[in-house]
Amino acid sequence: MEDDRLVIRVPVIAANWKMHKGPTETRQFLEGFLPGLHGDGGSPEVVICPPFVSLEAAVAACEGSPVEVAAQNMHFEEQGAYTGEVSAPMLVELGVDGVVLGHSERRQDFGETDENLARKMVTAVSAGLTPILCVGETEEERRSDETEAVLSRQVLTDLAELHDEQLERVVIAYEPIWAIGTGLTASVEQAEEAAATVRELVRTRDAEAAEKVRILYGGSVKPENAAELLAPADVDGALVGGASLSPEDFAAIVAAAPTS
Ligand code: PGA
Repeated sequence: MEDDRLVIRVPVIAANWKMHKGPTETRQFLEGFLPGLHGDGGSPEVVICPPFVSLEAAVAACEGSPVEVAAQNMHFEEQGAYTGEVSAPMLVELGVDGVVLGHSERRQDFGETDENLARKMVTAVSAGLTPILCVGETEEERRSDETEAVLSRQVLTDLAELHDEQLERVVIAYEPIWAIGTGLTASVEQAEEAAATVRELVRTRDAEAAEKVRILYGGSVKPENAAELLAPADVDGALVGGASLSPEDFAAIVAAAPTS
């Protein structure tokens, strides 16, 4: 029988470009970034998450490299009258590997709900896309000691529709909202504690999945703080916004990931 404590989680370093870089800039970035990447067995998984219009360029440029490509959102339905939306089968057709779901900017600015996310998670996993589910508390919620309650509500609701055997395919990014794009980072202790909380929440669903699920930290990760933030045992990588826009900075963050 497999000993759960021996499960090795390959770190994931993901670049969330948000609304930056069209196809031309995407190609330029990858021309600079890919040649420096060492795809040996001990490397982290590297994921680039460009805007929808740049996905095709990213997939083409990453072909033959170990770098994966993920979208930043998708609809839960496969098709239909949803103007402006993109579906999982469309992403799969392009050769996309994953999708960021529930980023706080989508939750706060575009009305993304946990109920919607529960449906999106099933759609993504069923289509073969790796979801990178984002969770995290506001500054106000942390101040009033609600961090655990917020994480619990988000993680348990967003994973609710997945079968237990699908859980290990999910990546979860803990992103405290007060640390996103602000230059503030969580302390290593805060990142470690929140990642451990998220893992315990997954454990309430399935113990084996809890050992396998990759839990990332996100929020002002930079080359200077990456090694420290990636060190805790329960932190299995990073979701990087601003610092992922520069090939040099993103390469330095990838290089700071612990080798598996
Ligand atoms: P940041 O963004 O690294 O610019 O703080 C992280 C994110 O929003 O995923």
